Amino acid sequence: MIQVESLSVFYGERVAVQNATLIAPSGTITAIVGPSGCGKSSFLAALNRMTDLIPGARTEGTVRIHGQNTYGDDISPALLRRSIGMIFQKANPFPLSIRQNLQLALREHGVRQRPELESRTEAALRDVGLWDEVKDRLDQPALRLSGGQQQRLCIARAIILEPRVLLMDEPCSALDPIASAHVESLIQSFKGRYTILIVTHNLAQARRLADHLAVFWYEGEAGRIIEQGNATELFDNPQHPTVAAYLAGQRG
Ligand SMILES: Nc1ncnc2c1ncn2[C@@H]1O[C@H](COP(=O)(O)OP(=O)(O)OP(=O)(O)O)[C@@H](O)[C@H]1O
Ligand SMILES: [Mg+2]
Repeated sequence: MIQVESLSVFYGERVAVQNATLIAPSGTITAIVGPSGCGKSSFLAALNRMTDLIPGARTEGTVRIHGQNTYGDDISPALLRRSIGMIFQKANPFPLSIRQNLQLALREHGVRQRPELESRTEAALRDVGLWDEVKDRLDQPALRLSGGQQQRLCIARAIILEPRVLLMDEPCSALDPIASAHVESLIQSFKGRYTILIVTHNLAQARRLADHLAVFWYEGEAGRIIEQGNATELFDNPQHPTVAAYLAGQRG
């Protein structure tokens, strides 16, 4: 499970996320929603220590993933990122072949035997429903795939390393409705297998997918979680007036 306690993210003097606390049990989907600029992406980046890579960025608070302190002295960020898959709004395949996109990461993590490389490539592509579409052109450039196919390839590239956690930052928002539905049902099929945090601006999608819902908002300059809970209960009976207006489509 993911346990985040009093997490704050700073860019220089500015607070992007203040005191966010959240628990995501293993195998569940947590949707993160809220208006633009309220710190959703910053929150995800801090879980993965991607914030380490941003000059001037700094975090406070604790993050435990399956009991392990993400910011502990004994943590290797490389191993951490292997156990956490990350998917972004814009599909970002490497400008390489479909096969290389998947096998590069495996090779980096020490898989060298051709039969294992090939079998894991096929398994990952089957998992994301791409195998039949691409099995005859694995050596063609990934960038020739459609947007939806590229996003599924990026998801395959994330899961091929057998992560336990998937962080998804608006994975469907650059896709047309059909490709979006396809990726959404893929995410749904991952329930129970990965612990998923997904940022989405699509409240209907959050409602369909999420077990747990966290609503971010700004208070002053800083983003905070202003309400969270069981997704069905929160959609049906929000307590915070701002959240009620937002979920009803009247704000944000
Ligand atoms: N690298 C950065 N350097 C400085 N400020 C940043 C950086 N990234 C984000 N911010 C600021 O932190 C705040 C939160 O941004 P963030 O991208 O986390 O919001 P968001 O909720 O993901 O928004 P959106 O819904 O538009 O993606 C914003 O005010 C943003 O300008
Ligand atoms: Mg964002």
